Amino acid sequence: MASNERLICQSDALVEKSHGLRFELPELGEFVTGFAVRYNSVVYAYINQCAHVPIELDWNEGDFFDLSKNYLLCATHGAHYNPTDGYCVMGPCKGKRLKSIKVVERNNEILISLDDL
Ligand code: FES
Repeated sequence: MASNERLICQSDALVEKSHGLRFELPELGEFVTGFAVRYNSVVYAYINQCAHVPIELDWNEGDFFDLSKNYLLCATHGAHYNPTDGYCVMGPCKGKRLKSIKVVERNNEILISLDDL
């Protein structure tokens, strides 16, 4: 593991289009979290803040997908985001994006990069 990476979980902790994993981001502040999900076998990670109002997306901890399992959902006012690029396709922040976090999956581990936080 490189010095600029942080292990967030083992690979099997992230199930396809299921619960996301939340993790703390003390680099960005005491209460800032990130999250990671698996979508079409690939892991994506974002700062857990809606592009509309900077509050956490998941009302129920780890619930990031909408019912179709094709979008990430802000539980507060319903913004829908593409899981692959964080682009908001529907809702009050349509056209904006979630802030992505670089993430790699290697040797059955999922790591985030702290470089671009
Ligand atoms: S706070 Fe997320 S859609 Fe408004």
